[in-house]
Amino acid sequence: MPVSRRAFIRVIGGGAVVVAAAGAGAAGFALTRTPTRALAPWTEAGAGETDIRRRALSYAILAPNPHNRQPWMVDLSRDGELTLYCDPDRVLPETDPFNRQITIGLGCFLELLRMAAAEEGARIDVTPFPQGHSPEGLDARPVAQVRFIEDATVSRDPLFAFVLDRRSNKEPYDLARPVTQATAARLESAVASTPALRVASSVDDVQIARLRDITWRAFVIEMETPETYLESVRLMRIGKAEIEANPDGIDLGSPMLEALNKVGLLTRESLSELGSSAWQQGLDMYRDIIGTAMGFVWIETPSNTRIDQLETGAAYLRLNLKATEIGLSMHPLSQALQEYEEMAPVYDEVSKFLRREAAGHIQMLARLGYGPDIAPSPRWPAATRIATA
Ligand SMILES: Cc1cc2nc3c(=O)[nH]c(=O)nc-3n(C[C@H](O)[C@H](O)[C@H](O)COP(=O)(O)O)c2cc1C
Repeated sequence: MPVSRRAFIRVIGGGAVVVAAAGAGAAGFALTRTPTRALAPWTEAGAGETDIRRRALSYAILAPNPHNRQPWMVDLSRDGELTLYCDPDRVLPETDPFNRQITIGLGCFLELLRMAAAEEGARIDVTPFPQGHSPEGLDARPVAQVRFIEDATVSRDPLFAFVLDRRSNKEPYDLARPVTQATAARLESAVASTPALRVASSVDDVQIARLRDITWRAFVIEMETPETYLESVRLMRIGKAEIEANPDGIDLGSPMLEALNKVGLLTRESLSELGSSAWQQGLDMYRDIIGTAMGFVWIETPSNTRIDQLETGAAYLRLNLKATEIGLSMHPLSQALQEYEEMAPVYDEVSKFLRREAAGHIQMLARLGYGPDIAPSPRWPAATRIATA
C-alpha cells in the first residue's frame, strides 16, 4: 500500500524520530505489516509433532541468541538422539570473533530443550563437544550430543510456563518505576550461584549511573567502528517482506520504520553511512534506551571455556524466564564485553568494575526495568533447522 510523505508527522524530540501515522489508511497499513509467518513458530511450538525430539526442538528454537542469528542446526538421524551443530554461516565474526556469544546462545537453546523434554517426562543426557573444541572458534564438530531418555523421576521446571512470553525488551524503560532490591533478589534466585558461575545484580543508583555510562560508551564504539557497525547493518531486515524472507537478524519491523523505508527516509544505504542522519538516529534512540536502565544483572564465570559459555547460556535463559514471571523487562547490552581491539579499554573497565575474581570473566550484562509489552521476535521454522532428519 503506498504511503505518502504527508501521512507522517516527523517530530524530532529528545533526538529520536517519532513518526505518527495519520488516518485510517495508515492504521490499515499497520495491520497488514505484521510478519505473521515469521512469528508462527511462537504459536506452533509443541504442536503437530509425534517425535519428542521435534517437539522439544520447536521450543528450543525460541531461545534468545545474539543478533537473532539462530545459529543452531540439528541432526536427528540417530534414534532418540539429537546432535547440535553451529551453523557456520550464522556467526558474528566482527562483534563475536571467538564465537563466545554464539556459544552462549547455544547454551540457551540446550536449556530450553531440557525444559521442554522434562515437560513430557524425559530427561536429556548432554555430552558437550563430544569431539572436542577450540577456544579460537566453533567449527564443524558438534556442539553437543543429546540423548532423550524417558524418566519418571524427572521434575518439570516451573519456568517453562514463561517460555512463550519471554522477550528481550529493547524499548526504553519507565524512569518512574525503580527496580527494588527484593525484585532483583527474586530474579537472581532463578540461578543457584556456584563457584563455577556467579549471578550478580545492582539496583543501586550510583552503580546504575556508572553502568549506563560504560554501556553507552561501548555502544558508541560499536557504532563508530565500521566493521562492527556494518556487521549489524547487513543483518537488518527492514519491513515485512524482508523479515518474512529472512526471519532472523535485527528486525526493523514496525509499520513506522517500514513506511520511512518506503519513502526513502530510512534505507539500507543511508543506514550504512556512518554519520548519516539514519545512523545518528540509531545512536540517539539507543541513548534513550540505555539511559533508562533501572538496574543491571550480570553473569561471571571463573574461566572462559566453551563449557562456561554453555552454562552461561542456561543461566541467562533462566534469568530471562524468571524476569518474565515477575513482570520485569530485560535486555542484554553486550557491546562492552566484546573482544575486538577498539573495545579493549572499555572491556577492561567493565571487567574490573564487575568481576569478583581477578581471573573471572563477565559473560553477560543486561539492563533491567519496566518496558512496554512487545511482540516476539521472528524465527525460522523448526523444520528448517534440521540438517538431517
Ligand atoms: C549472548 C547474547 C548476547 C546478546 N546481546 C545483545 C545485545 O548486545 N543487544 C541486544 O539488543 N540484544 C542482545 N541479545 C538479545 C538478542 O538480540 C535476542 O535474544 C534476539 O534478538 C532474539 O530475540 P528474543 O530474545 O526476544 O527472542 C543477546 C542475546 C544473547 C543470547
